[in-house]
Amino acid sequence: MSETRLEHVEDALRHALDAFLGAPSEGALAPVEEALKAFEAAVREAAGAASSPAGLAAVEQQALRQKGALNQTLRSLGPVPGEWRKVVGAAANRTRAACAEALAQATERLEASGARERSTFDVTLPGRKPFLGRPHVLNQVRDEVVGIFRGMGYSVAENREVEDDHHNFGALNFGPHHPARDAHDTLFVEGGALMRTHTSPVQIRTLESQTEPSPVRMLFPGRVYRAEQIDATHASEFHQVEGLYVDRGVSMAHLKGALSEWARAFFGARTRTRFRPSYFPFTEPSGEMDVSCFRCEGSGRRKTAEGEVRCNLCKGSGWIEILGCGMVHPNVFRAVNYDPEVWTGFAFGMGIERIAMLRYGISDIRHFLESDLNFLEQF
Ligand code: DAH
Repeated sequence: MSETRLEHVEDALRHALDAFLGAPSEGALAPVEEALKAFEAAVREAAGAASSPAGLAAVEQQALRQKGALNQTLRSLGPVPGEWRKVVGAAANRTRAACAEALAQATERLEASGARERSTFDVTLPGRKPFLGRPHVLNQVRDEVVGIFRGMGYSVAENREVEDDHHNFGALNFGPHHPARDAHDTLFVEGGALMRTHTSPVQIRTLESQTEPSPVRMLFPGRVYRAEQIDATHASEFHQVEGLYVDRGVSMAHLKGALSEWARAFFGARTRTRFRPSYFPFTEPSGEMDVSCFRCEGSGRRKTAEGEVRCNLCKGSGWIEILGCGMVHPNVFRAVNYDPEVWTGFAFGMGIERIAMLRYGISDIRHFLESDLNFLEQF
């Protein structure tokens, strides 16, 4: 389109010029000047519309070629009387400069977009997968544990990680000389505070925070700290989920029912549970809950290509220890001004790392803190 338009204005210019050269006059000059303006406008438009360097070169070639109308105009002015020659010459030179500038601008524009084009990607290449983040595997496990209890009507709370002796030990019925209070086990902070060694102090803080004793059905997930020699199964910081159910008339049957229900939801519907006696200062009686091994389904044996072997997850026992639990000790109720003759409850606590390691076959607890994507992206 632009080239034909350019040809057209060139014709008009030649025409006007011929008339002017035949009889230079004010009246004959006006059409020449007009034709020069039209010529410039046509070049501007064609240059602006050019979408490739080749297209632009064609415009330039057409507009500024030796035998083009513009150059002919300049060349033909020789015989024209001085005054007129100056006027027409100046007008034609202005036009030439304006065209050159329009072409230069168009070149710049094409170069800029050409650079953009070169840097855009090849649409025939396979796509690049965007990097998607995800919750850390520990948070995934925590959320799943918590989610199951939420379905049973539990709510969730968190509390401080820097604790005092009273909430971490005393109110939980730890004796004054209990070894957990030793600096070999507990990380102390200046001023007598300590890094909580378990999530159990949140039991105390929750019960304390109620102005009147009332039922509690809650979970307390969070990070805990111990003065550990760090190795594949020991870290100085790890995570627990604590549970507390306080009401009138709570019995061991409620404890076993709630925890067994949770275990079936978490480890699979065929999971069996067993409760073994244990000891914690803040529960009486206390127990450990085992679940039937989810790798060998509780048989303790696994079939492999080489025949039947001992299951290495449960070490052949068919059972895996999952959590500690028990009925809330009367002294714990006393410490928070709940009448132990009226109030009853059960509590439990489990390690998130431990459960994640069992479920996913993770052999080293240090992986959880290393932020290594090769590890994290597996979950
Ligand atoms: N606090 C215990 C620990 O860190 C875990 C625990 C056991 C919590 C029994 C409880 C419980 O609430 O009833 O080893």
